[in-house]
Amino acid sequence: MSKLLIIGGSKGIGAAILAEQINKRVCINVSRSEPDIAGDVEHHSLDVLTDDLPDIEDLKTIIYCPGSINLKPISSLKEDDFRADFDINVIGAVRVIKKYHRQLKRTEGASIILFSTVAVAQGMAFHASVAAAKGALEGLVKSLAAEFAPKIRINAIAPTITDTPLAAGILKNEEMRKKMSERHPLKRIIHPGEVAGLADFLMSDNAASMTGQVLQVDAGITTIR
Ligand SMILES: NC(=O)c1ccc[n+]([C@@H]2O[C@H](COP(=O)([O-])OP(=O)(O)OC[C@H]3O[C@@H](n4cnc5c(N)ncnc54)[C@H](OP(=O)(O)O)[C@@H]3O)[C@@H](O)[C@H]2O)c1
Repeated sequence: MSKLLIIGGSKGIGAAILAEQINKRVCINVSRSEPDIAGDVEHHSLDVLTDDLPDIEDLKTIIYCPGSINLKPISSLKEDDFRADFDINVIGAVRVIKKYHRQLKRTEGASIILFSTVAVAQGMAFHASVAAAKGALEGLVKSLAAEFAPKIRINAIAPTITDTPLAAGILKNEEMRKKMSERHPLKRIIHPGEVAGLADFLMSDNAASMTGQVLQVDAGITTIR
């Protein structure tokens, strides 16, 4: 079985990916808290921004999930908000990629998946800080896709609002959920399992020709009026 490293498999989209992959691959998780899942997972409790990452041999896939939703008008956003969003969305991913890319290169069919947001492709009020960080992340994906080809594929998934702990503040009651769902042409809130399904495809050999892509899971909000 191939080896998958998930950064952030304890909650949200990462937890859904872990649940889907646990019987398909050797799964290694890195997060500050332990995933609440039965089965064989090698877990490392650590902060991806400050702690040393574990040595892992024969990795085939890396998925980096940590991110932020820090929605404020520009007048309320401090420079430190921008730095914090850049750190967790971009620098954390860079730390992970720098640690493992040499050995990923030695594994046939290796790939990396990062997470962006629909707020890069479409301007959304109060998203300045997270959109700036995720825009940088999309640039990182395209640049590294060029640098790592043909050995490692790297792609990003850009979801719209998805039902996870990160989005809990925006989906905290039925009224807010309905309002958020109504904003989307497909009139629904994304379930993390749907995003996990796309990650499953992207790490598989069926996506062997895909690299440098940013794939929207967006209930239609990016392209349909
Ligand atoms: N949910 C949405 O509506 C939405 C929308 C657009 C984009 N996205 C993007 O999709 C990705 C996944 O989002 P999500 O909603 O699943 O997030 P989430 O519910 O906050 O889960 C994030 C995961 O990352 C881990 N993590 C966070 N900071 C960490 C750190 N410093 N060190 C180690 N692990 C850390 C968390 O575990 P611990 O807390 O245990 O460390 C958790 O397992 C993010 O990049 C997000 O920006 C999400």
